[in-house]
Amino acid sequence: MTADAAIGNGAAATAGAGAPSGGAAAAPSAAPLLALRGLRVAYGSVEAVHGVDLTVGAGEIVTVVGPNGAGKTTLLSAAMGLLPSGGELVLDGEAVRRPTVEAMVARGVALVPEKRELFADMSVADNLLLGGFARWRRGQRDQKARREEVYDIFPRLRERHAQLSHTLSGGERQMLAIGRALMARPRLLMLDEPSLGLAPLIVREVLQVVASLRDRGVSVLLVEQNARAALNTADRGYVLEMGAVAFHGAASDLLHDRRVVETYLGLGKGVAAGA
Ligand SMILES: Nc1ncnc2c1ncn2[C@@H]1O[C@H](COP(=O)(O)OP(=O)(O)OP(=O)(O)O)[C@@H](O)[C@H]1O
Ligand SMILES: [Mg+2]
Repeated sequence: MTADAAIGNGAAATAGAGAPSGGAAAAPSAAPLLALRGLRVAYGSVEAVHGVDLTVGAGEIVTVVGPNGAGKTTLLSAAMGLLPSGGELVLDGEAVRRPTVEAMVARGVALVPEKRELFADMSVADNLLLGGFARWRRGQRDQKARREEVYDIFPRLRERHAQLSHTLSGGERQMLAIGRALMARPRLLMLDEPSLGLAPLIVREVLQVVASLRDRGVSVLLVEQNARAALNTADRGYVLEMGAVAFHGAASDLLHDRRVVETYLGLGKGVAAGA
């Protein structure tokens, strides 16, 4: 296994909040929106994530790339409170002692899981309303207005609002899964392999929307096997290998680092060349 290698100047940002390549919203001295410090996650007695340090600054798009089984989903699940973890999980400079899903949702974190988990026999419109349920229960009755905002982000969902979700195309299902997560008005959106199973053109469309969320005040933690497409979308990246960070740095530096190119990016094919 490779020791964690910081690549380029942007790598310094792991220690703080900085958004080295275009994440404009972060003040240099502000605490990162999310900081994982020495995060460890085990399945029974087998540890799958071995002490990962990672930050997402306000207004940043950060990606975690790496091969099958590297621990990407495990990392996201622990960050969402779905799996118990060791180490520290810090939001806005405040340690979350026992991260549970409810606690993370209440603090403005949302996850789009790899298996989209939509309600198959419900319409697009109703799937979206359910995404706003936690807010509704807290007395915030803005779900219909919020749904209009989601329709503005994904006009295709407005066109298909009455369609049952199991009849949507793969790309439309991914848009609905992201839209449903956005209904909770998250500050941090975590996405697990949004490009999985999608055609290159649709991957590009989905990732363009992900990139545009920054302008709506949403920071993004994007997990992808499609490393080139993810690094082209993100400000910073971490390469996860066997449960540990092998490289991290500004996405533009990682895209041009020889070791990263040789191992993960192949010989410079197109944006969505596949994992
Ligand atoms: N429920 C589980 N029980 C036991 N081991 C698990 C479980 N889920 C994952 N693992 C193991 O943890 C390691 C990390 O898996 P994980 O799913 O996080 O990888 P990943 O990077 O998301 O891979 P992929 O790109 O294939 O989605 C793997 O060795 C996997 O076999
Ligand atoms: Mg996974």
